[in-house]
Amino acid sequence: MADPQPSDKADFGFQSVPRREKAGRVRAVFDSVAPKYDLMNDLMSGGLHRLWKIFTLHRTGLQPGQMALDVAGGTGDLAAGLAARVGPDGLVLMTDINGAMLEQGRRRLLDRGIFGNVVMAQANAENLPFAANQFHCITIGFGLRNVTNKSAALASMMRTLKPGGRLLILEFSKPALNFLKPVYDFYSFKILPALGEIVASDAQSYQYLAESIRMHPDQEAMLTLMSEAGLEDNHYYNLSGGIVALHVGYKY
Ligand SMILES: C[S@@+](CC[C@H](N)C(=O)[O-])C[C@H]1O[C@@H](n2cnc3c(N)ncnc32)[C@H](O)[C@@H]1O
Repeated sequence: MADPQPSDKADFGFQSVPRREKAGRVRAVFDSVAPKYDLMNDLMSGGLHRLWKIFTLHRTGLQPGQMALDVAGGTGDLAAGLAARVGPDGLVLMTDINGAMLEQGRRRLLDRGIFGNVVMAQANAENLPFAANQFHCITIGFGLRNVTNKSAALASMMRTLKPGGRLLILEFSKPALNFLKPVYDFYSFKILPALGEIVASDAQSYQYLAESIRMHPDQEAMLTLMSEAGLEDNHYYNLSGGIVALHVGYKY
């Protein structure tokens, strides 16, 4: 299954936009939400995003001294956890396409005393500016949904993983419990944008968030995309009833 969009169009939430415009629109969303991003994450998820990230970090298999890459790192939650795992002799590269998000991340990591083993770079997940076979582990948390060409991003991460390395994709997914759907829809399309308006004066970006979650490939479709990128032993864990899924795959 290739990226499920015709070549000249991409989904931006429920809208179909010219493919070349999507990255700019996504950038505008994150420029707007960057200052309130962490507060909104806690409010929207009731703090659950912290547990989803801890679960992800437990599955990295990283050892002290190794090299890890966090793609679409935003404000640096996963990068901070990776840095603790690889220790002072290891290295974490944290990338994001958006300078405002990276700047928030840089400040937060410094405030937490994390420096020395984390390096930041502004980069598009579709075209990572790193040599092949570099990283023991790559994480991408709530980032892949926003990428225009998901297959290109998976290929780029696959290329930069070391043989034996592990890719972890944490992303919103399809809730497994159908009876929760009306509640989840009400929350996503009514409460979330209202919360975005009150806290960040920005209902539109949170409307995009809800829509982009619905447009993202579900658990099984993600497995197919991963296999097509050449990843192996692909599997996933449903978290919070499948509202979020962690996909794991290996490069051999
Ligand atoms: C919802 S935030 C997630 C941030 C962080 N990983 C976390 O889990 O809190 C999504 C991030 O993806 C970044 N992003 C969107 N498109 C991207 C792309 N094509 N390449 C790299 N990063 C991208 C955004 O700038 C934003 O910081």
